[in-house]
Amino acid sequence: MSDGELDTLFALAAAARANAHAPYSTFKVGAAILTGDGRTFAGCNVENVAYPQGTCAETGAIGAMVAAGGRKIRRMVVLGGREELVTCAPCGGCRQRILEFADPQTEIWLGACRAALMRHTMAELLPLAFDTLA
Ligand code: THU
Repeated sequence: MSDGELDTLFALAAAARANAHAPYSTFKVGAAILTGDGRTFAGCNVENVAYPQGTCAETGAIGAMVAAGGRKIRRMVVLGGREELVTCAPCGGCRQRILEFADPQTEIWLGACRAALMRHTMAELLPLAFDTLA
């Protein structure tokens, strides 16, 4: 499928993943966001010798988006793994963080390579989500 936005998001996520700081888990993750107004942001996991202080790739990408004034995630790509780019599903905490800036139909693409990216929706990844506004 030809999809220039996805090509761009995949490239951004892969580049961020390559820069991940993951010496403790050796599990590198990259994430890239396309906002509602067409901007892109990327993040990688940043681990710390004090293990709980490490942060996830999705968290970094969301932080970059929010700092630049972005508030709506339209599409997102998450890649990760030890050896190759294997499918890395967002952790539970990151699903809740993504939801903060997503709609039920927001696309979250996961996969081992560009050709294998699979489309998931926010609602599929976090059904029955906590929300005080509901
Ligand atoms: N990690 C992420 O960056 N995103 C996730 O959604 C799952 C886990 C990172 C955290 C840690 O640096 C490494 O992957 C192994 O858990």
